Amino acid sequence: MAKRTRIKDLLNTTEYNKQVTVMGWVRTFRNNQFIAINDGSSINNIQAVVDFNNTDETLLKRLTTGASVAVTGNLIESLGKGQKVEIKVSSLEIIGDSDAEKFPLQPKKHSLEFLREIAHLRFRTNTFNAVFKVRHALAFAVHQFFNDKGFVYIHTPIITASDAEGAGEMFRVSTFDPDHVPRNEDGTVNYKEDFFGKATNLTVSGQLEGELAAMAFGDVYTFGPTFRAENSNTTRHLAEFWMIEPEMAFYELNDNMDLAEELLKYVIRYALDHCADELNFLKERLLEEEKNKPQTERSGLDLLSKLNFCLDHDFERLTYTEAISILKSSKPNQKKQFKYLIDEWGADLQSEHERYLVEKHFKKPVILTNYPADIKSFYMRSNELDEQGRKTVRAMDILFPGIGEIVGGSQREERLDILEQRMDEMHIPKEEMSWYLDTRRFGSAPHAGFGLGFERLVLFVTGMTNIRDVIPFPRTPKNAEF
Ligand code: 4AD
Ligand code: MG
Repeated sequence: MAKRTRIKDLLNTTEYNKQVTVMGWVRTFRNNQFIAINDGSSINNIQAVVDFNNTDETLLKRLTTGASVAVTGNLIESLGKGQKVEIKVSSLEIIGDSDAEKFPLQPKKHSLEFLREIAHLRFRTNTFNAVFKVRHALAFAVHQFFNDKGFVYIHTPIITASDAEGAGEMFRVSTFDPDHVPRNEDGTVNYKEDFFGKATNLTVSGQLEGELAAMAFGDVYTFGPTFRAENSNTTRHLAEFWMIEPEMAFYELNDNMDLAEELLKYVIRYALDHCADELNFLKERLLEEEKNKPQTERSGLDLLSKLNFCLDHDFERLTYTEAISILKSSKPNQKKQFKYLIDEWGADLQSEHERYLVEKHFKKPVILTNYPADIKSFYMRSNELDEQGRKTVRAMDILFPGIGEIVGGSQREERLDILEQRMDEMHIPKEEMSWYLDTRRFGSAPHAGFGLGFERLVLFVTGMTNIRDVIPFPRTPKNAEF
């Protein structure tokens, strides 16, 4: 195929009067003359002008929305409004036809719900071009951040035999024929005959293996897919999502918070610096979408101001206990407007409470620390009992406006005896986790880490409102299309 130039480069050039070839997909064809072509390199199209008097009629008829074309011609300064350059077509080839009657994407506004049903084609819209460019930039920025700091990227396993969070929300991995599962004499499933010779599942987190590597490399991170079989049909939960999990030896809780805040600010700044076109487009999209909403449901700041606001302010840090007292005396609690009223220390925070703290009370990102031990995972480091004799652990959750929890992490329990006691209390099988406990047996050291939900980050930065719209092919309860 002839060499093609990316449309993005042509739109930025001032070198006119040269022959160029572009290849892309027709967005619109107007007046039998103007083709708007998009090749994905930019959300903006290039205009190609055909001389219809000297072009075969049947060829012109095939210039339909969605068709792929190759266009060669002279790049000239455009006289028309809305673009700086255009291509005066000298040769036109239809590479792949697109039946206008059947192609589901029309040159008009489609709802996000409709586009979700045709997720295989939604890449071809401006909104999803912008969203997935930003997603790419954020992923790249994550690696850059850690690489610059000397962290080692560890590929933790996708298939595991352990439940890292101890929450039991796992997808099984098996090659058993579901109609003929081998059983032991007592009727239980005989996993010895299964592929791995034991019960296995898709990982819910790479943390435990990350801890093993941190005890050798010092600073490591994973960035991979994780799976949760929680039946949460919300705008913030996926059954398959990507998570960034750094793990650092000789870190305590404060170091952990500093690193998480620095990471978040770094990647948001990277997106602002490298995705200006996309973020501007998404800002306008959000303003448009919110026009139909009542004033109270609109974001106070536009998308770019919101992102910049995050960079310019320290995240508010407070303990769970302090948060509970704020929530207890808050208006929505007093007036019984919360669905789950806060009346006691120990209650798990729901997303309505997290959002109240972030969006109403502090009006900025918040880091909550030192949660009750009972509502957190077994591996978190125990604190001394507080003045009231209550047991807390060195957990930290970062809460973001419009998102709720974006990061969950903790300092880890490095003391073998206390960890074993916690595992017993929480019915975590110690024998099977002997490899994990070895880190505490041989050269144990204080360490900490966290998990940043990548889609929640993309949601925040793009201003999209449903997590299904920031991952190409979302997996949610009762949905695994494509
Ligand atoms: O709070 P979580 O469950 O923490 C862990 O998995 C730890 N092992 C992390 C660590 O310390 N290394 O999950 C971490 C983050 C959440 O804050 C959230 O952003 C995201 O992962 N997350 C989800 N994102 C989308 N869909 C889901 N179902 C998610 N569950 C968690
Ligand atoms: Mg969490």
